[in-house]
Amino acid sequence: MFRLPKSALALAIALFACAAVGASNSQDYQIGTAATAAEIAGWDIDIRADGKGLPVGSGNAINGEESYEIFCASCHGVFGEGEGRWPVLAGGEGTLADDRPVKTVGSYWPYASTLFDYIRRAMPFTAPMSLDDQQVYDITAYVLYLNDLIEEDFELSQDNLAQIEMPNQDGFFVDNRPDVSNPRCMADCADPASLMIQSSLSGITPIGHFVEGADAPASSHSGQHDLEASKEAERKAAITGEQLVSSVAQKNAVMSAEAIAGEATYKVACGVCHDSGLAGAPKLADTDAWLTRLQQGKEILTIHALEGYAGAKGYMPAKGGRADLSDEAVTNAVLFMVESQQ
Ligand code: HEC
Ligand code: HEC
Repeated sequence: MFRLPKSALALAIALFACAAVGASNSQDYQIGTAATAAEIAGWDIDIRADGKGLPVGSGNAINGEESYEIFCASCHGVFGEGEGRWPVLAGGEGTLADDRPVKTVGSYWPYASTLFDYIRRAMPFTAPMSLDDQQVYDITAYVLYLNDLIEEDFELSQDNLAQIEMPNQDGFFVDNRPDVSNPRCMADCADPASLMIQSSLSGITPIGHFVEGADAPASSHSGQHDLEASKEAERKAAITGEQLVSSVAQKNAVMSAEAIAGEATYKVACGVCHDSGLAGAPKLADTDAWLTRLQQGKEILTIHALEGYAGAKGYMPAKGGRADLSDEAVTNAVLFMVESQQ
């Protein structure tokens, strides 16, 4: 059940690199520096099934509710039911043997400690590792509460989190077979020269299926989106006989340099909601909606994007939930969104 987030892979590589270079070797080879204790602590955040590695602290579902609604509900639903095709976090008990099992934290996960680790490491999807430990404890408690695993006022802490019994705990067992079984070939063996090792490591998490109407998993959300858009343009051109102009060239002809620069920020930080209209976000392609919003002036739109605001349609998180973005990058992304309407 452990889908390794990419950061875990990076961790493994980084640890390997540390071990390979090491303090004394860095002298020998004149490259790299020994990792400091603080640098290692920054990577060393895994939590074991028995709770080892949990930071000191505690939290409860009552406090977690508000944070969950701000940071998680737009994708996972107010009750963990999952918006659109985003993952469901609660319910699904007793469905694992069905044709279409609903695998959730409550129905599937064997350890509660994984939930803390996963939220801290990987969520919210657009801003991993942005929550502090207090928020992670509160939100973890809230997700357990949504799954009826703890009471609302239960004080979840580093001492009791690993003791929570997950319903599907016994559905997992330790496979103690050796992980390598490789008897030597003695007859009719393949010529080693004819063997080729092949591997690929792209699109570890296929997320194309989260795009409405996507018919195949894609290695990236915006990649799938671009593909759908260009297919649509081709279909249209085939009917009207018009010439296909590349969308980039078309846009560049009308956009300011700032707006063109803003497209990259849009793709990484805004498209997750604004491409599809997720959580009530006005869709980039919905020109009418944007012309209406533009009546309040570009400045107000920019302030709303920078500082966040709750409108009639939903909640726009400050900078799209990405505190790491500069004001300039967000401003340019707004210009990109606005000038795309011309
Ligand atoms: C922008 C949408 C989005 C937001 C906001 C978001 N998530 Fe997620 N979440 C995802 C996606 C996509 C996945 C699947 C990731 C994967 O499989 O690599 C996921 C997976 C998860 C999972 C694992 C589900 C499973 O059974 O495999 C948990 C738990 C989770 N999120 C909790 C949270 C919490 C808690 C928050 C708020 C702090 C949050 N998420 C905010 C999109 C989001
Ligand atoms: C988690 C989803 C989400 C993300 C990510 C997101 N937005 Fe939004 N955004 C919204 C929602 C929802 C609204 C509509 C709120 C309303 O009017 O009720 C909105 C509205 C806006 C508006 C219109 C404001 C107005 O006053 O009408 C702008 C501009 C905007 N977003 C820019 C951005 C930019 C720039 C980014 C990326 C840096 C971004 N958004 C990322 C959800 C999101």
